[in-house]
Amino acid sequence: MTQRKMFKLPKSGLHGKLLLPGDKSISHRALLIGAISNGPTIIKHFLRSNDCLSTLQAIKDLGINVEQHNTDIIVHGKGIKGLQQAAKPLDMGNSGTTTRLIMGLLAGQSFASELIGDASLQKRPMRRVSEPLTKMGAKIQTTDDGTLPVKITGQALHGAKIKLKIASAQVKSALILAALQADSPSTIIEKLPTRDHTEQMLRKFGANIQTAQDQLTISVEPHPELEGQTVNVPGDISSAAFFLVAATIIPNSDITLCNVNINKTRTGILNALLKMGANIQVTELESQGEPAADIRVRYAYLSPIKISEEDIPAIIDELPLIALLAACADGQSIITGAQELRFKETDRIATVAQELRKLGIQLKELPDGLIIEGQNTWNVTDPVLDSHGDHRIGMMMAIAALRSTADLFLNEPEAVSVSYPEFFTDLNSLLKTRREV
Ligand code: S3P
Repeated sequence: MTQRKMFKLPKSGLHGKLLLPGDKSISHRALLIGAISNGPTIIKHFLRSNDCLSTLQAIKDLGINVEQHNTDIIVHGKGIKGLQQAAKPLDMGNSGTTTRLIMGLLAGQSFASELIGDASLQKRPMRRVSEPLTKMGAKIQTTDDGTLPVKITGQALHGAKIKLKIASAQVKSALILAALQADSPSTIIEKLPTRDHTEQMLRKFGANIQTAQDQLTISVEPHPELEGQTVNVPGDISSAAFFLVAATIIPNSDITLCNVNINKTRTGILNALLKMGANIQVTELESQGEPAADIRVRYAYLSPIKISEEDIPAIIDELPLIALLAACADGQSIITGAQELRFKETDRIATVAQELRKLGIQLKELPDGLIIEGQNTWNVTDPVLDSHGDHRIGMMMAIAALRSTADLFLNEPEAVSVSYPEFFTDLNSLLKTRREV
């Protein structure tokens, strides 16, 4: 078991500028959509993290040629019928996004595929994707528990009208990728609006996908000839979120996060921070792809917050950080309607509660959320923190540790590489930068 000593309270705060690594959701989609388009797709500022590298390896195993020049990637797409059967099971690593999206993509191909993954991914539910795909004629077999390994027998698919039972961009995206290959149009109706990167990117590549005014009803026309494009991947707001929170809770901080994606379906963390009283300035940049901004954030005094079901999709990956913000706020905060957190890389309601308690934070676990009591000072009860192998739990606890003057340690810090391999280096750079006078 590896262990890393955590950075302590930086008395003069966090300072400096940071260019965030590319957005994870957009990087995955650019690879998959590039693979089924005709001709080259150039991906700029691609996220070279373990999860996205699982997608990259998967498309290579499916016969796609990929050139890699650091964070610039060229995918030589072969069209929607150009993928080839992989010689071995496709290894999804830790990546739920790769698994779910590729299930939709492979359901309509003319060959069989098998998907495998690591111990954490093997516990995650896959019937949420295989069941609705069945309505298009897909043949997908999970284990009796509805988990990996998953066997896909590629089929000719038909269009369908599908109402989703859970709010999930991964499920929606899988259905869209399958619907492109069907013989008639499909309609997908979401429970709540979720991130729309798949729809936006596919439109850019030439697909006919309409989103109704209600933001919930998506119509997909089948069989478009997609054309390779250049995708400029903006910085990931889910990675920026760790530093937005760090600067907000550490006195004297003043940092600027550059070129961060501010797609409305992802900015729940900014809305929550502003509601709590955070000191944030968003300067929108000119962009050829999804909207992006520079975000300046300074230390602030925080009020508590209530987060409920309709808020969840736009803030799903940042909820551990909301729990941390709440622990620093003046009063009681309540998160409900977040049962989906129990199906992430870890059960994030349980792991957030277990880890924050080690710092002396008072909280109560609910089946679908948390009640957190904000406190000015925390009394550490256990100095050995644990990522539980979950990247976002590891990074959240590294930020939480900054509030403490005690010697704290983190088990399995390498988990951060799933979405942010340079996390500790970037955090260190904001601690080292001298305050400008
Ligand atoms: C993602 C969707 C979300 C999110 C995950 C990435 C995506 O998952 O939590 O980190 O790229 O579509 P769900 O669709 O399961 O909510």
